Amino acid sequence: MQYQYEADLDTRVVVVQNRGMKAWILDSTDAGLRLQEVPDPKVRDGGAVLQMRAVQVPAYTRVLTMGGRGGIATPTVLGIGGIGRVLDVGDDVQTVRPGDIALCTGFLETGRLADPEEVLLGWTGIAGRGAASAATDAMRRVWRTGTFAERALMPASTLVALPGAEHYPHPASLAFLPWLTIAAGAVERSALRPGGRLVVTGASGQLGGAVVLLALARGAGTIVAVGRNPASLERLAALDPRVRTVRSVADRAADGEAIADALGGDADVTIDALGAAPTVDLTMAGFDVLRLDGTMVLLGGVRQTLPIPYDELMHRRITLRGSWMASNEVAYSVWRQVRAGSIDLTALDVATADLEDPDAVLARAEATNGLSIVALTP
Ligand SMILES: NC(=O)c1ccc[n+]([C@@H]2O[C@H](COP(=O)([O-])OP(=O)(O)OC[C@H]3O[C@@H](n4cnc5c(N)ncnc54)[C@H](OP(=O)(O)O)[C@@H]3O)[C@@H](O)[C@H]2O)c1
Repeated sequence: MQYQYEADLDTRVVVVQNRGMKAWILDSTDAGLRLQEVPDPKVRDGGAVLQMRAVQVPAYTRVLTMGGRGGIATPTVLGIGGIGRVLDVGDDVQTVRPGDIALCTGFLETGRLADPEEVLLGWTGIAGRGAASAATDAMRRVWRTGTFAERALMPASTLVALPGAEHYPHPASLAFLPWLTIAAGAVERSALRPGGRLVVTGASGQLGGAVVLLALARGAGTIVAVGRNPASLERLAALDPRVRTVRSVADRAADGEAIADALGGDADVTIDALGAAPTVDLTMAGFDVLRLDGTMVLLGGVRQTLPIPYDELMHRRITLRGSWMASNEVAYSVWRQVRAGSIDLTALDVATADLEDPDAVLARAEATNGLSIVALTP
């Protein structure tokens, strides 16, 4: 099936004739991701067209394309988040200007405060209980757009201008800004304080690694990074003496003991960034080590039910919070920390790739974790 913005998607995108671009198209979760020449997106009111410069391919992208992370509005150009140069903006758009380097968050909100609804563009994800509604369907029909492409048309409200980014010496590593922003949402919601003791479960993943970088920048006193992949844990340990690592043995009691030993006591905050783990053991080990009045933030992709006793939550006065995506203000504050050098992106191992062979790039991305990423530089 050929992907055509107007015919297949019923969007109001007007295509520029006689031009085209390369993009990764997902027709359905049975079809696999493929490279296709598609018409260039043309700007329209409320949106901006960007030349994509640096786009992270998350490790779980292949699983996602097969439907393993929930439904996706297809057919679509796939891809969440990224950094691009703004080429053109709608007449009513002021959030970004042509020539800006901007972050695409892919996170679209209705803005209706009475009953807010939110979706991810070019990816899986609907906020709340995850159920589609007339509003989320309309948002994903009108903005059927992803960032695994040479150019992308994005709603202006999902773009954040990054002043100074044009001079940033490691442009490909800026592909990690969307993941850092999502992680920063969790760190903000945890209210981690300078000097605080933090546990990150799933720290060997890319979101977990991002949490560690942000917590260091925020002045955490001790960070216990818990995961399985030894190379990933070593990279985290090399960042700073405040980072201590624990290799999970997939046993709640044993992991909890090892974490408490590494902390030298209880944790103020646990942030869980695990992928789709088959059990709750490691997540619960992170819960077990929280101090009285501690906070646990759930950020990852665990699809299990947590066995949390009512009286324990009450007597320990635990705050349990979910964290899904983050505001544009958080994204901008992440960029300011990167620009100022408080978050050092040279800690990343970035493998760059072009759009020519989606299958090979997904395989490469699947083999990455933690602070090693694959970035498309279309
Ligand atoms: N809250 C949000 O706003 C948000 C946004 C985007 C994504 N997510 C979710 O966040 C999750 C994490 O994302 P990610 O990019 O970091 O990548 P990820 O590849 O899904 O995995 C994260 C880590 O989970 C660990 N893991 C998986 N199963 C495990 C198990 N049984 N025991 C111990 N560790 C296990 C792996 O550690 P090892 O490498 O050590 O094996 C892996 O590196 C994703 O599943 C995604 O659904 C959430």
